[in-house]
Amino acid sequence: MGFQQVIAAPARAALFLVLTVNEGSEEQVRELLADASGIARSVSFRTPDDDLDCVIGLGSALWARLFHATAPKGLHPFVPLNGARHAAPATSGDLLLHLRAHHMDSCFELSRQLMNRLRGHVEVVDETHGFRYFDERDLLGFVDGTENPQGAAADSAVLISDEDPEYRGGSYVIVQKYLHDLGAWNALAVEEQERVIGRSKLDDIEMPESVKPADSHIALNVITDAEGVQKQIRRENMPFGAFGSGEFGTYFVGYAADPAVIEEMLRRMFLGGPSGETDRILDFSTARTGTLFFVPTVDFLDGVPTR
Ligand code: HEM
Repeated sequence: MGFQQVIAAPARAALFLVLTVNEGSEEQVRELLADASGIARSVSFRTPDDDLDCVIGLGSALWARLFHATAPKGLHPFVPLNGARHAAPATSGDLLLHLRAHHMDSCFELSRQLMNRLRGHVEVVDETHGFRYFDERDLLGFVDGTENPQGAAADSAVLISDEDPEYRGGSYVIVQKYLHDLGAWNALAVEEQERVIGRSKLDDIEMPESVKPADSHIALNVITDAEGVQKQIRRENMPFGAFGSGEFGTYFVGYAADPAVIEEMLRRMFLGGPSGETDRILDFSTARTGTLFFVPTVDFLDGVPTR
């Protein structure tokens, strides 16, 4: 089990809740934040094999309402993007609850306990129940998460370090809910879908540079610093779908020590890469939400001052 454990093994189930905090409910939220690790223990202790993990993120507007302390350096509202062809909207969100486990009942039970405490104090902006689709695939049918950094590379990609010592060990997360046009996507030949992503579909092998299109998802999301070192993030995308509403998609979740890395990827995808090409994945996927949160450490939350 983990609490505020940003780097976790791929889960089979996930539940995402994006909430706004009502005016006047700041104290109740502060108290919940201080109690959250204990509540998480109460649920996960009963299901030790389920690897239940809960991450709570705080939005920039809420930070100013809850704390006097200087905000973490990278905490700001999600920056919306409006390109000629594609848009990434910014939507509201004070709190993110990101729950992962091998089974949905653990995610649901912990959400239930947390939401019991928040009832009357928050509004639900978005609730998404995600599931792992076969062998780590998204609803486009491609394996999703392969190139995530692991081990020490994951730690340095997602955990705040010397750049902001006060918040060392914390992280940032950007979430976006994407809806897929599965009709248009499934009408493409598999070879064409592979050129959209930049990897083969069945066996998930990256295309050689010589054939990988510049507007493929992979080509636009591999970015490097001045020394040529790849700048990485950790993704925890989950598929979701509902037949009644006809909404099928990918809940994008990107963790990073510096949200500017995710923002650079988003600019390339939505506004255009080096030669102006936008990400072909966006011809079949529309971003409906966009929010940025700071993820404090367990120690920070356990010590949250209450009046
Ligand atoms: C519709 C939403 C999205 C879908 C369905 C999707 C799907 C995928 C797939 C199938 C891969 C290849 C396998 C892998 O390495 O994981 C991938 C890679 C990647 N995606 Fe996405 N993605 C989405 C949105 C995003 C967004 C919004 C970002 C960044 C802001 C992003 C960043 C990346 C990165 C960095 C890689 C790995 C590149 C590499 O190192 O090869 N993705 N994505």
